[in-house]
Amino acid sequence: MSQLKTTATPLILLLAVASTLGEMEPSEEEARIIGGQFAAPGQFPHQVSLQLKGRHHCGGSLISETMIVTAAHCTRGQSPSQMMAIVGTNDLSAGNGQTFSIAQFIIHPQYNPQSQDFDMSLIRLSSPVPMGGSVKTIQLAESDANYAADTMATISGFGAINQNLQLPNRLKFAQVQLWSRDFCNSQNIPGLTDRMVCAGHPSGQVSSCQGDSGGPLTVDGKLFGVVSWGFGCGAKGRPAMYTYVGALRSWIKQNANV
Ligand code: ARG
Repeated sequence: MSQLKTTATPLILLLAVASTLGEMEPSEEEARIIGGQFAAPGQFPHQVSLQLKGRHHCGGSLISETMIVTAAHCTRGQSPSQMMAIVGTNDLSAGNGQTFSIAQFIIHPQYNPQSQDFDMSLIRLSSPVPMGGSVKTIQLAESDANYAADTMATISGFGAINQNLQLPNRLKFAQVQLWSRDFCNSQNIPGLTDRMVCAGHPSGQVSSCQGDSGGPLTVDGKLFGVVSWGFGCGAKGRPAMYTYVGALRSWIKQNANV
């Protein structure tokens, strides 16, 4: 908490400055998942690559043998027949993953594509994924799971590693800090809702990026957030936004029975 208070003033200044620089402008600094590293095989056994017409499109998390959690903006407007889920690999070019076809998208009925409120979708696979080795489900955070400011969370994804939105094919991960509701609210971040949590370093040096969407943010090994949106990738003074699993926990339970 005390650490948080000392950053309050510069943070607000940075937000004011950043907002004059124009929306969604990526920072000029290095924009790969910063502070991030490449994942080892099997390190994120719940990580899914959602492929659209054979190309990486979004991330996801395996929550049961047949169910994946992702972002609504990853499935909206798409056809399940055009999408596949790859599990069990940290290198999409290696061909050692297992590919599954998709039976159904269950998009949160309150999803708002303008505001990204309720940015969550379930994906039902056509056949169950055999568990074991580098494929495992992840537990979901409890309903209304609380989070203390500065709690460290882990993000992972096959998303872009630079401003040219180059995809690495290899899975990366990074540690990010959760922001408290004192800063992660609609006054400081226009458009923020109670279905969103903020994470990232005020320096902008840690961020998810294009292609990481739908993928996991975990705290203590549980799925706490889903990569949703941001201002560029790693913009100074600005966090990235994650769908708050705790707020949508009962909807997941009803629809995935998990
Ligand atoms: N919405 C984007 C996607 O579809 C990226 C989300 C994260 N963006 C960010 N700047 N943190 O992959």
